Amino acid sequence: MELVADVKTALLPIYVEILKRYRCHKENLALFGALYASHKILCFIHGCYKLMKFHLTICLFSKSTLKRRYGEWAVVTGATNGIGKAYAEELASFGINIILISRNREKLQMVSESINKTYGVKTSFIEVDFNKGREVFPAIREALKNVDVGILVNNAGVCYEYPMYETEVPEDRIWEIINVNVAATTMMVHLVLPGMLERKKGAIINVASVAARVIFPQFTIYAASKTYLDNLTEALHHEYASKGIFIQSLTPCFVATNMISPMCSFLQRKSIFVTLAKETAYQAVRTIGLTRRTSGSYSHSIQIYLATTLPEWLWLSAWNMACTAMSRDRSSKMK
Ligand SMILES: NC(=O)c1ccc[n+]([C@@H]2O[C@H](COP(=O)([O-])OP(=O)(O)OC[C@H]3O[C@@H](n4cnc5c(N)ncnc54)[C@H](OP(=O)(O)O)[C@@H]3O)[C@@H](O)[C@H]2O)c1
Repeated sequence: MELVADVKTALLPIYVEILKRYRCHKENLALFGALYASHKILCFIHGCYKLMKFHLTICLFSKSTLKRRYGEWAVVTGATNGIGKAYAEELASFGINIILISRNREKLQMVSESINKTYGVKTSFIEVDFNKGREVFPAIREALKNVDVGILVNNAGVCYEYPMYETEVPEDRIWEIINVNVAATTMMVHLVLPGMLERKKGAIINVASVAARVIFPQFTIYAASKTYLDNLTEALHHEYASKGIFIQSLTPCFVATNMISPMCSFLQRKSIFVTLAKETAYQAVRTIGLTRRTSGSYSHSIQIYLATTLPEWLWLSAWNMACTAMSRDRSSKMK
């Protein structure tokens, strides 16, 4: 108690001195406060406006738009599972022919046949392991030689199996992330863009992640690869939008797919935080040509708004809690 009284007595003169010095600046400080509050309110209104625009865009989207605007063929990488498969199906439902790219021939054949039967569009596939690096691209170039690619969905991607600190990530996984997430996306753009420029039309969707929008400790290298994609997309947009090419970054939060579901039981089903690949693709496809960056769903847009507006320490505490839950879930499964 004595210590508290001592601190109070010591601090009181300082407090009085500060009051004396800044009394004359009271009005300036009030103005500063009002400006800050107005800025926050305007940001909030802008966020609501963006959400309403997203909703209207999806409701008013016309089915014939995509094919007319970009062409008859779409290439989707990582199209045998999750978000890529859902994109391929959604685009096919618009009457667009699909070329699927992934590693596994049986899965490619199965998805290709199923899309062809369900939507009555032409389909084909290219069996490729992007992790092999530079050597696979001549074969892709050859396979796409006579195809007017209207839409490219650069979706193939790999992540960690669970949260890891940088030094714990196996070297093979680091190269896989660089080869699949970074190099393959860059090369696929490099491969299809000249054709699009000749035809003066085309759309490229690079599947990044919320990890490109906020700090993502324990998924550092994955997040850095997605930041690369988001930045690449933005810069490409500035280079080519005026030449008729639309380039979009998709930045979803958690989507229940094979990539993240094994991390934690919470990530295996739909919830306010987790969406399904089908609904993400449904909404995201309807923003092609309209928004340069989309999360692909309402709930993820709200999550990203909160994550980017909250003080960084609050976001980081929430994210660390999520990582701890994932690690705990993994340990209990291993027992
Ligand atoms: N799920 C999420 O919560 C989430 C959130 C944000 C962003 N994303 C991003 O969304 C994209 C799709 O993820 P997802 O969740 O749908 O994952 P997924 O279900 O694991 O699907 C990944 C796809 O990529 C293909 N693929 C993986 N490695 C490949 C390689 N070396 N070469 C060629 N194809 C390869 C896989 O096909 P094969 O196995 O047949 O080769 C599969 O079709 C990724 O870029 C991911 O980073 C996901």
